[in-house]
Amino acid sequence: MSYPHQISSRAQYDIAYKTSIEHPEAFWDTVAKNFTWRKKWDKVLDWNFTEPKVTWFGGAKLNITENCLDRHLIANANTPALIWESNDTEEHHRILTYKELHFKVCQFSNVLKNNGVKKGDRVCIYMGMVPELAIAVLACARIGAVHSVIFGGFSAQSIADRLQDAHAEFIITCDGAFRGAKAIALKEVIDDALIACPFVKRTIVLTRTRQPVSMIKGRDVWWEDEVKKVETQGNPDCKAEEMDAEDPLFILYTSGSTGKPKGVVHTCAGYMVWANYTFINTFNYRPGEVFFCTADIGWITGHSYIVYGPLSAGGTSLMFEGIPTFPNAGRFWDIIDKYQVNILYTAPTAIRSLMSFGLGPLQGKSLESLRVLGTVGEPINEEAWHWYNENIGKKKCPIVDTWWQTETGGVMISNMADITPGIPSVASLPMPGILPVIMDEKGEEITTPEASGNLCIKQPWPGIIRTTYGDHERCRTTYFTAYPNLYFTGDGATRDAIGNYRITGRVDDVLNVSGHRIGTAEVENAINMHAGVIESAVVGFPHDIKGQGIYAYVIYAEGAHDHNLVRQDILQTVSRLIGAIAKPDTIQFVSGLPKTRSGKIMRRILRKIAEGETQNLGDTTTLLDPGVVEEILQGKGK
Ligand code: WT7
Repeated sequence: MSYPHQISSRAQYDIAYKTSIEHPEAFWDTVAKNFTWRKKWDKVLDWNFTEPKVTWFGGAKLNITENCLDRHLIANANTPALIWESNDTEEHHRILTYKELHFKVCQFSNVLKNNGVKKGDRVCIYMGMVPELAIAVLACARIGAVHSVIFGGFSAQSIADRLQDAHAEFIITCDGAFRGAKAIALKEVIDDALIACPFVKRTIVLTRTRQPVSMIKGRDVWWEDEVKKVETQGNPDCKAEEMDAEDPLFILYTSGSTGKPKGVVHTCAGYMVWANYTFINTFNYRPGEVFFCTADIGWITGHSYIVYGPLSAGGTSLMFEGIPTFPNAGRFWDIIDKYQVNILYTAPTAIRSLMSFGLGPLQGKSLESLRVLGTVGEPINEEAWHWYNENIGKKKCPIVDTWWQTETGGVMISNMADITPGIPSVASLPMPGILPVIMDEKGEEITTPEASGNLCIKQPWPGIIRTTYGDHERCRTTYFTAYPNLYFTGDGATRDAIGNYRITGRVDDVLNVSGHRIGTAEVENAINMHAGVIESAVVGFPHDIKGQGIYAYVIYAEGAHDHNLVRQDILQTVSRLIGAIAKPDTIQFVSGLPKTRSGKIMRRILRKIAEGETQNLGDTTTLLDPGVVEEILQGKGK
């Protein structure tokens, strides 16, 4: 069994790729026929990268949830849509068939309507990894509300910034979330955020941990009570709202090189087609298989490969509430055996972390059901790749190394399972529809087969970012002005003689910590907010587990005697302002920073020092005060 738009051989990939680049409209017209539309498109594609303005399937009408739910009710009503594994091994798992998920999404859509949510309204979702998170996402999509999921690790301040930016008047949250041995007080964080957001009209709170929460009359309601009201109203159905192809589907905030995260906007039709097409083809998904993506729905990976990709394909998506090391480092392997998982999609940082426990946690685990493995989020080092291949895939499972971004909506460059070969630490070939180019430092395209430089994309694909919420100019300057008429990825890459791409990492001031994007400017802003801090500079450094760690150089006011205490205070400040994920691994107090005569911080030098380099720091003659470098070197590790 396969899908009509599924590639089944290398020869077919070559043909699909060629057609998609030479005749994109004809190519995507054929692919899009495999979806449910209320009205077909007038034109497949209209675009320019100068404004930028990209229209896919212009004039078409649809609702993505009819593609993710309703259309599977005939043949797959009793197929598991979502399998949910709880954090706690004692708690019973939950399975929602397509019929049940459809019912619950309709029910919660009616809850949203009862609470005044309308098409186009922005709804912030801040929840743990429970099935109701997927239900909330789909219910928003069903009524045409724009969801903005915020990862549960972000702080109240971060949430407030995002609520204000999107002017989101509705929030869906939980009392708390279970993660490993901890219960995280989500509603409390929301309460703190809402002090700065008086425009929020309604908070719907799901019971999960049943820890004490404050419920404000007129603003906060319980999920369960609202569902009961809908039940007594007696109509379990909720007809899906008819959406334009280019109506926004969701906003997802992500970090860039400035201090303020931006709201990446994806739209209904193009995103749907792209999430589905890349899901089916990257993983070579076969109907009936169990797909386990270990990401959180708070990130794009969860949006595309827990919710929209698998469900639009009528697939079975496994959702895990907990963490890989609870109650022990064999948890993923237990889950794989328990549900006979066929495809595992995880992050290199998770693999490295599990590697560090040795082979003990793999004892007695079969892992026989696995057919395909995948990685995402950062380049995978060869050691981790081989460990994954040998111990998890038993050398029988292809590993897809998928390169993509929040802005791209779905996988862009990757080998395809059983179709194109995987090479350790190489993302390899572009998906159909993707035309990568490598640019040199003069801004010219390198046209030789072998190339090394900055990675750009030459043509639009259905899942491309449409705008940054509320600030289209920011979208233009961030992605479309570095190289005229190209989408700039922010990544460096090399290309080999046969066209394989290897991603070398970010070329801007964006860090990738455990596969999470964090802007150095954001962390600096947070550190600088701490009383006593005069200035700071943040760089990344290689970290065994996280891939990249955060190194902060801080100039602190005189009179600080206990540096360790000050360090703790700074960490607390960063946690409060951004979230624990942005806490620096190392803070070094310095009396000055290496700056050029024009006042620019020479991060290149700071990066080298953070990496442990002492000798070859490059040219320091342009520095205002070269002595500062020596002092930083001396002070390292103190
Ligand atoms: C950045 C995007 C894509 C979903 C998760 C992260 C890096 C991502 C790979 C890979 C090398 C990768 C890039 C990219 N990245 N996947 N397979 N090999 N680097 O999404 O938070 O938007 O981050 O992650 O640097 O630009 P994101």
